Amino acid sequence: MDGEILIAPSILSADFGCLAEQVKQAAEGGADLIHVDVMDGHFVPNITIGPLVVEAVKRSTALPLDVHLMIDSPEKYLDHFIEAGASWLSFHAEATNHAHRLIQRIKEYPSVKAGVALNPATPVTYLQYILEDLDFVVVMSVNPGFGGQGFIPSSLNKIEVVRHMIDSQGLDVKIEVDGGISDKNANKVVLKGAEIIVAGSAVFGAKNIPKAVRGIRKAASI
Ligand code: DX5
Ligand code: ZN
Repeated sequence: MDGEILIAPSILSADFGCLAEQVKQAAEGGADLIHVDVMDGHFVPNITIGPLVVEAVKRSTALPLDVHLMIDSPEKYLDHFIEAGASWLSFHAEATNHAHRLIQRIKEYPSVKAGVALNPATPVTYLQYILEDLDFVVVMSVNPGFGGQGFIPSSLNKIEVVRHMIDSQGLDVKIEVDGGISDKNANKVVLKGAEIIVAGSAVFGAKNIPKAVRGIRKAASI
């Protein structure tokens, strides 16, 4: 760990009627990445956005887009989301039988970081033979599908175990934690070894978006 914490506001809780403006406010508050939740109504019981919106968000900000695919058959859409502007791209372990192949496909784009997301019930052993190929692991601290859910406490242990796996192999893989994070618990996930904090409702549900981003960063600095 190099100690740098990245804050990634999730636009899932933003006002899509003025998305560009809200992303700008998150950037003003010092966001490092913009987290984009892609849902297909199959892998998760909700439908959100596709490559067209990713492209529009890309045009609205200089910040890197962290695209989180919560979709079945991610292999069909990887290229579309990368072409639309994803700089960080994660797919779900549970959504494919071919994680290794998909990671290699993402790595064909040298500027794109490859991540795998684990649902709360998915064991960390899934990572054993792919960890060294990853740029980041997304530990889901809610069941994917909706913003504004409560943080699942067992995620803390999971972060710690993944951190140990990474460090004991001397790897440079970041841990992103996604779901139910606010200025009340950001320090807990960082203490366990998380380096990227996703926050949706805690940022875009706040009256003052820049202040909310700053508050989470402050809470996360340990
Ligand atoms: C959940 C999404 C999360 C979510 C985070 O399916 O992957 O990124 O938007 O939102 P909060 O921070 O409100 O839990
Ligand atoms: Zn997400």
